[in-house]
Amino acid sequence: MRAGIIGHPVGHSLSPVFQGAAFRACGLDVTYAAWDTPPGELAGRVAGLRAPDVLGANVTIPHKEAVAPLLDELELLAARVGAVNTIVHRAARLTGHNTDGSGFVAALREERQFEAAGATVLLLGAGGASRGIAFALAAAGARDIAIWNRTPERAQRLAADVAAAGGAAHAQGATDPAGFDLVVNCTSLGMSGTGTTGDSPCDLRRAAPRALAVDIVYRPAETPFLAQARALGLPWLGGLPMLIHQGALAFELWTGQPAPVAVMFAAARAALGEAAA
Ligand code: ATR
Repeated sequence: MRAGIIGHPVGHSLSPVFQGAAFRACGLDVTYAAWDTPPGELAGRVAGLRAPDVLGANVTIPHKEAVAPLLDELELLAARVGAVNTIVHRAARLTGHNTDGSGFVAALREERQFEAAGATVLLLGAGGASRGIAFALAAAGARDIAIWNRTPERAQRLAADVAAAGGAAHAQGATDPAGFDLVVNCTSLGMSGTGTTGDSPCDLRRAAPRALAVDIVYRPAETPFLAQARALGLPWLGGLPMLIHQGALAFELWTGQPAPVAVMFAAARAALGEAAA
C-alpha cells in the first residue's frame, strides 16, 4: 500500500521520516513518500489517490485550503477550519480531515497533562495554524480563547468564525499573558529562516506561575518565546509534539490502529539531530 505527503516544496518535511518509521514498527507494508506537487498538478495528484493501493495522504503548504473542494466529503473540523491536512481513501471515497488542531490538543494532554476543557487561552497569531488550533480548542471545551494578531482584522475574523461555531472566542488588542492558563505562539516569530529568530510576540513575565507556554515552531527547538518561558520556570512545550500527534492521528485514521508515538518521536528527533528525550 502507499501513502504520502502532498505539498510544495516537501523536501524538508519530517512526515516521511516518522510515518515511514511508524508503518515499519507496526509491520505494515506501506510506503510513505514525499509527493512534491506544484499547484497546477494538485487536481491530478488528488485523482491519483483514488488508486486501490493508496491509503491516503497528508497535505501541507500551500495546498491545505485548495484541496478541500477536490474531495468527496469533509469531516466537521476540517469543514469549520476550511483546511485539510489528512485525506483518507476508503471505499472509493476521499474524506478530508484536519488533525493539526486535534494533534495540538492531544499533544497538550499527552505531553503535559494539560486539559483544554475549561481552560482560558491566549492565542498569538491568526494565520492558518492558529485557525486549526482555535477550532480544536473550542471543540475540546476551552472556556475562553483570546486571539491577538499583528493584523487585527484577521484576529477579529477568526474569533467571529469560532464563535459562530459555538466556541467562546474574542479578539484582543494586547499580548498581555496575565490570567491565562495557556499561551500559544502561532506567529512565525522565532522560526528559522524568517529573519525573526531573536523575536517573541509576547513578554511572559506577567503570566500566571503555572501557565503553559506553547510554541508551534519546532525549528529551532527553542524559540525566544520558549527560552523566556523556561527562564521563568513556566511549563512549556515546543512544536514537535504537535507535529507528531497530528501525524499519529492521521496514522490512526488510515490504519484503524494506535500509532507508535514513541517510535515517531524518536525518528523525528534523530532526523532533526536532537538528542532523544
Ligand atoms: P501559518 O499557516 O503558519 O499560521 P500564516 O497564515 O502566514 O502562517 O500566518 C503567520 C502568522 O504569523 C500570522 O498571524 C502573522 O500575522 P499577520 O496576520 O499580521 O501577517 C504572524 N506574523 C508573521 N510575521 C510577524 C511579525 N513580524 N510580527 C507579528 N506577527 C507576525
